[in-house]
Amino acid sequence: MCGIFGFIGNRSAAPLLVDGLRRLEYRGYDSSGIVVKNGSLQVHKKVGKVSELSKILPDHIEGNMGIAHTRWATHGGVTDFNAHPHLSEDGNIALVHNGIIDNAKGLRKRLQERGFELSSETDSEALVHMISIGIESGQSPLESVRKTLTRITGTWGLCVLFKEHDLIICARNGSPLILGQGEGESFVASDPHALTQHTQNFFFLEDGDMAILTKDRIEISRLEGGISSTSMTVVEDEWGQADMAGFPHFMLKEIHEQPEALRRCIAGRLDMANGSAKLGGLRLQPLRLRTVPHVRLIGCGTALNACNIGRLAIESLARIPAVAHVASEFRYNDPVINPNAIHFAVSQSGETADTLSAVKEIQLKGGDVHGIINVVGSSIARMCAQGVYIHSGPEQAVASTKAFTNMVASLLLFAIKIGRTRTFSREKGQSIIKDFEKIPELMEKYLSNPGPIDEAVELVKNAKSVLFLGRGLSAPVASEGALKLMEIAYIPCLAYPAGEMKHGPIALLEDGSPVVVILPNDKHRQKTIASMHECRARGARIILIHEEGDDEAAEEADVSIPVPPCNYLLSPLLTVVPTQLIAYRVALELGCDVDRPRNLAKSVTVE
Ligand code: M6R
Repeated sequence: MCGIFGFIGNRSAAPLLVDGLRRLEYRGYDSSGIVVKNGSLQVHKKVGKVSELSKILPDHIEGNMGIAHTRWATHGGVTDFNAHPHLSEDGNIALVHNGIIDNAKGLRKRLQERGFELSSETDSEALVHMISIGIESGQSPLESVRKTLTRITGTWGLCVLFKEHDLIICARNGSPLILGQGEGESFVASDPHALTQHTQNFFFLEDGDMAILTKDRIEISRLEGGISSTSMTVVEDEWGQADMAGFPHFMLKEIHEQPEALRRCIAGRLDMANGSAKLGGLRLQPLRLRTVPHVRLIGCGTALNACNIGRLAIESLARIPAVAHVASEFRYNDPVINPNAIHFAVSQSGETADTLSAVKEIQLKGGDVHGIINVVGSSIARMCAQGVYIHSGPEQAVASTKAFTNMVASLLLFAIKIGRTRTFSREKGQSIIKDFEKIPELMEKYLSNPGPIDEAVELVKNAKSVLFLGRGLSAPVASEGALKLMEIAYIPCLAYPAGEMKHGPIALLEDGSPVVVILPNDKHRQKTIASMHECRARGARIILIHEEGDDEAAEEADVSIPVPPCNYLLSPLLTVVPTQLIAYRVALELGCDVDRPRNLAKSVTVE
């Protein structure tokens, strides 16, 4: 989603701004722009990738301060005019904004009545004109922004640059903004890993914070007045350069990083001695685990699929009700919150607005939420202040892969921990832990010989739609496979619990329809095979992801993709990998932009 980067110091701003935008590219956007102060404010903006913007930039742009933006359209089409930064009419103030101004329509109308000519269709542009009214009436930069923000409703992460002042004003409400303090220079970004190469000294702005950035100083105050309690955090988690390590795409690189990422996630957490799991970030004592009435898991997209695996594992191992919720629905259904229940907010970015709202709703009603998060220091991680970091490392491709497997792994660890407290013996726990330890190696084994993915691609690439089926823990794996193929190859996909297929989706099947069936060797195997037969009988072509050695099932498939045998509880960690490879290869075949699929954003920071 939209990205912000800003710099003030002694170095040339333009190259830093463009580099900052490149680091934000993975978030998904449709246009970008920069403004640099050099006497006047020089704005350059362009529809398309940052490389398109680079093409129109002069060879050298003087100036040691500026702000930059990547836009993901919400109000107004994808045009150069609608791209940020927006300028005041006199050209003395420039603004970039993430978020949504709910009362923009009324504000724009009032500005037009006062004689302002708006040059874009965006909600954001209104803000820069309102700030300019404040400046003309003698207000300071901070006051003009403050007064403007008190008149708007909605969400913002914004930065403002002034021709007459050597500073940047920033403000946050609902859209992340992080400030970085270097030696004689200051930075601002919407994403911490755009800053880590410049400094480790971060200020994570809270909702309602405002800041003045000069090259030597960062001063944070509150929108309502007074000093903010936001203090500096030293971040040691170096996300490193976004390089592809020899892979043609981030997605493929991240698929192959899964064994290593999983090792990081489980390192020090498998408690062989006790047949349990150690999750230090959870503030849950054994007595609480024994008496908890239920567990609720909340997430979006891939995180939701991971939640659905987590809930089945928790219910199965701990014999306690567990439910997964779509985050965007949660808050609006006025949920009943039991303060004794355990809630998990699951998110790769830790910035997803829908999930963040759910966390706020739970906390508002006295509930306790733990985060299952990848990005250290992200908004959800800070808001929960307890939970599990999944340690996937930076995930750059919009399509989530290694975060999914580590979310699943983290939730399985929790399921083992709570199950061990409530229901099963040390010996049973030890046997699961022993199996868990082997998974990274089994993933490597599979990735070194991924089976006939090309044949699956041939069946899928020209299909009108693709059906994904699985039962039990494999039903959410089917959903994840469908989501992946749909989001990067733009093929309509449907995922169903295999048994439910005959209650509707079977009507879609015709001669040659591809059906992907997830078939680990678990208690559902026979039933899933029966569903596969029903599909075959209607002319469907079966792509079967099954346990190595299950020749009986493999013989019935058009394309059979074996994965190494493992404990059924851990099978999603392996069976999902072929679905990721199929999606990747189909998208390539169809000439799609694998890492940055159309219309999508990596981090969805608007509701
Ligand atoms: O950062 P989050 O995990 O909260 O993101 C949630 C979804 O937006 C995300 O998983 C999305 O569905 C991905 N593009 C899936 O690959």
